[in-house]
Amino acid sequence: MLSPRLEENKWDLPHSYGSMYGVEEAQAMLEVLNEWAPTNNKRVREYESRFSTFVGASYGVATNSWGGAAHLVAIMMDIKEGDEIIVPAMAMSATANIFVREGAKIVFAESNPRTFNIDVEKLEEKITSKTKAIIIVHMCGQPCDMDPIVDIARRHGLLLVQDAAHAPGAMYKGKGLGEFGDYVIYSFHQAKNICTLGEGGMVVTNNKEWAEKLKKLRGHGAGLYIGVSNRMTEIQAAVGLVQLDRIKTHTETRRRLSYYINEFIRDIDGLSTPYEISDVYHVYHLYNLLVDEKRLGMTKNELMRYLWKKRRIMAISYYPTVNCLPPYKELGHGEGECPITEEMAARAIALPMSPRYTEADIEEMVTGIRDVVNMRKKGLI
Ligand SMILES: Cc1ncc(COP(=O)(O)O)c(C=O)c1O
Repeated sequence: MLSPRLEENKWDLPHSYGSMYGVEEAQAMLEVLNEWAPTNNKRVREYESRFSTFVGASYGVATNSWGGAAHLVAIMMDIKEGDEIIVPAMAMSATANIFVREGAKIVFAESNPRTFNIDVEKLEEKITSKTKAIIIVHMCGQPCDMDPIVDIARRHGLLLVQDAAHAPGAMYKGKGLGEFGDYVIYSFHQAKNICTLGEGGMVVTNNKEWAEKLKKLRGHGAGLYIGVSNRMTEIQAAVGLVQLDRIKTHTETRRRLSYYINEFIRDIDGLSTPYEISDVYHVYHLYNLLVDEKRLGMTKNELMRYLWKKRRIMAISYYPTVNCLPPYKELGHGEGECPITEEMAARAIALPMSPRYTEADIEEMVTGIRDVVNMRKKGLI
């Protein structure tokens, strides 16, 4: 691997990133440099074809980022004043941002505190005569419960958009996520499971006409539409093609390491391991824990602080609920809108997770967590 492993910073943030490149990526990049490094050419087409097949969809449109792809989708939606889009409160700000910019009103829905994914039981009550679309997020890499979600979207005639930024290669009941819904959007940002040199994204769909229009919108609208400039470069696609060869092995490593962490953490009173619904292939972009402050004897912020101070383990507070972020408060959202999700977000942390790690690393990390918990129990910290 060319991406270096720095032993002394093993648990710091860049190490829990996806970005893992080898000589194959470097070789692929050199080939593109020799061709003057153009944008949006034969490798982009090949990457679109191979990636969309990998996730179970017919067509792919590669872009500069998830946000760039979502912008194309938002333009396709032709959002009018008053149109509502349902978004789970447990999401990234990006999941909602571009749709707000295009004029939509966001209606936040509760997420399930066990899976972190949209709570199907509480989804339908959010639908009104103004609802245009439902956006779901496969949080941490675990697929949402697709059958009831697809059923709700169909019954109400709503567009279904999947935010699969965390979930390349995830499967629901043996099917790729690209087999469901209208649009599925992926990110190849530096932290993701597949990386295309820091940025990148793709929207996949099974609708040929939509795919063709999305491609035009991506390149200024090709004189036919008012488009944007959200293309992927050839050098990114060349790297993406190599990353696609690695993804299965990397995902298996993420899964193996996650189940290994579960074994060690399960008996620490006050920490809940990730919950998987049945018949899904979870790709563990993030390994999320829930902290029970009373049983653990400290808050999640204290746990994060001591893990860093005492063992140099960088746990992250993923994610604050989108409705509570300042720009959303300015739009009239805020605390109390999705109380179950807000309570869950206040207890959620993500441990370092990357295919860089080995079982020995995991044992070291979990020992660090146990040490901190025991130090607290003994009143040493
Ligand atoms: C759930 C989710 N959606 C969307 C995005 C945005 O991806 P990008 O940075 O490629 O636009 C991210 C990235 O962090 C994400 O985690």
